[in-house]
Amino acid sequence: MTRGVFITFEGADGCGKTTQIELLKKYLDEKKIKNIQTREPGATELGVELRKILLHYEKPVSDVAETFLYLADRAQHIEFEIKPMLDDGYIILCDRFIDSTVSYQGYARKQDINQIKKLNEIATKGLKPDLTIVFDIESEVAQKRLQGEKDRLEKEGLEFHKALRFGYLELAKEEPNRIKVINANDTIENIHKKVIELISRYI
Ligand SMILES: Nc1ncnc2c1ncn2[C@@H]1O[C@H](COP(=O)(O)OP(=O)(O)OP(=O)(O)O)[C@@H](O)[C@H]1O
Ligand SMILES: [Mg+2]
Repeated sequence: MTRGVFITFEGADGCGKTTQIELLKKYLDEKKIKNIQTREPGATELGVELRKILLHYEKPVSDVAETFLYLADRAQHIEFEIKPMLDDGYIILCDRFIDSTVSYQGYARKQDINQIKKLNEIATKGLKPDLTIVFDIESEVAQKRLQGEKDRLEKEGLEFHKALRFGYLELAKEEPNRIKVINANDTIENIHKKVIELISRYI
């Protein structure tokens, strides 16, 4: 059995990750290509509990505690979902992964970037995505797309979101082979076409 492909989707809240993953899933399903949609945080049973805390816990959460909660979710996800599915030949479409932790907890919360990268390596046992797509968008545009009740991180201000965007773009510069950036201030259909172009060499 050939190994599957691990693709992650990254970018600020409201950039269009879920919209694009769902379109891509439909495309792969139609082509009868074995795939699975997953996300962080909250893909495993333990992860569901951690997600509730991460997004909705109302009392103060220390930056370090926040980081470790994401990493705990990731360790569980890798061991019980991602690794077995990859070994089973699936194309994995994962909504957020290691680059979210570096960008949010590192760049936006201003914690040590290299330390977070090392912690990611521990949580994933060194497993990296084959391809990461970052949907890049002006913070103001992404914020306007978000309707309804905002979660704990979405409530952060413009400065936080600008640092976050900068973080993603820095990571893309550091790892140009793995991380590809798409301008997300475009129509859903145009972005979908670009996503297909990017994934085509992996399927
Ligand atoms: N290219 C686009 N142009 C305009 N609106 C869009 C576009 N892509 C997605 N949207 C809309 O913006 C909103 C946010 O999109 P979506 O939920 O896909 O973002 P997300 O990156 O998954 O956000 P989150 O990180 O909060 O889950 C949705 O209402 C969606 O329909
Ligand atoms: Mg989403």
